Amino acid sequence: MEKEITLELVRVTEAAALMASRYLGRGDKEIVDKAASDAMRGMLDYIEMKGTVVLGEGEKDKAPMLYIGERVGRWADDDPELDIAVDPIDGTRLVAFGLPNAISVIAATEKGGIEFLPTYYSYKLAVGPELAGKLDINATIRENLRVAAAILGMEISELTCVVLNRDRHREIIEEIRRVGARIKLISDGDIAAAIATALPESNVNIYIGIGGSPEALLAAAALKSLGGEIQVKLWPMDENERAKVIEAGYDLEKVYRTDDLIKSDNVIFAATGVTDGDMLRGVRFQKNVAITESIVMRSRTRTIRKIIAYHNMAYKTIPLKSAGEIKYINGLRRI
Ligand code: FBP
Repeated sequence: MEKEITLELVRVTEAAALMASRYLGRGDKEIVDKAASDAMRGMLDYIEMKGTVVLGEGEKDKAPMLYIGERVGRWADDDPELDIAVDPIDGTRLVAFGLPNAISVIAATEKGGIEFLPTYYSYKLAVGPELAGKLDINATIRENLRVAAAILGMEISELTCVVLNRDRHREIIEEIRRVGARIKLISDGDIAAAIATALPESNVNIYIGIGGSPEALLAAAALKSLGGEIQVKLWPMDENERAKVIEAGYDLEKVYRTDDLIKSDNVIFAATGVTDGDMLRGVRFQKNVAITESIVMRSRTRTIRKIIAYHNMAYKTIPLKSAGEIKYINGLRRI
């Protein structure tokens, strides 16, 4: 079952990436997200599963598809029940402006395998396997960098931290600079950034900062297979959200670790590159062919696969939820 679904999930992110990449550089992030969601949603129904979206495009009244609680998949009696987490495009602005590191992402676990985070944003610290369990989100940046350098056998000045370039990170950025580590500031896309810490070829050691909570859960799904770690604390964006989550009984001091975020030992994670990035190349169009690069992993076996697919556009069919089946011929749309 799992093996079959693993490849099916890659087809879902491939379809989303292919559709979204048609809108590269148009300056319109809404259309990028819409195209990816439509293809992802259409493709999901081809999978032999009883899937429920537990993390997606939002609440039912706000998202036309891939809303939380939506049923996806074939739903035949003997199909396995799965929880599905998606981010059709992490980095919609990156695609809209033709910038690197946008990916399409999906994760699947058995029912109840994914934690619910009630705040829009979380404070995150992600590292690769060598630093897993060694740093502490509550420690100072100075202390974490000191420990990281000692464990990795590097100078602090040789470490690289990735941080989203946001005003809310001014203090974090200044502190990293004071301590003397290198910084890679990114404009968007912190799933790929958190995962990159666990990829040996990526040249980054620590991802730190405040980003979306769904993105934290999806990064955790990948880091579980990669042996890395993400630590997360809820980060209310305003007094209203703070009051709401406290009232609902959440503890703002609680540190969620990878296994708290992804409670199942059996999670499948798949992503396809939309624009060129550290982890994956973006969609490339050639005469009649589109080439995609994807990564897929299963935490149970910790096998990581990269899949390069050559999509012959003369024969390619991408099912869109909104329009039934769409066939591509020489890159032109024909319904
Ligand atoms: P979208 O693709 O949904 O726009 O998200 C991109 C992203 O950069 C995430 O990777 C990140 O977690 C979040 O936005 C940060 O939020 P904000 O842009 O509000 O600071």
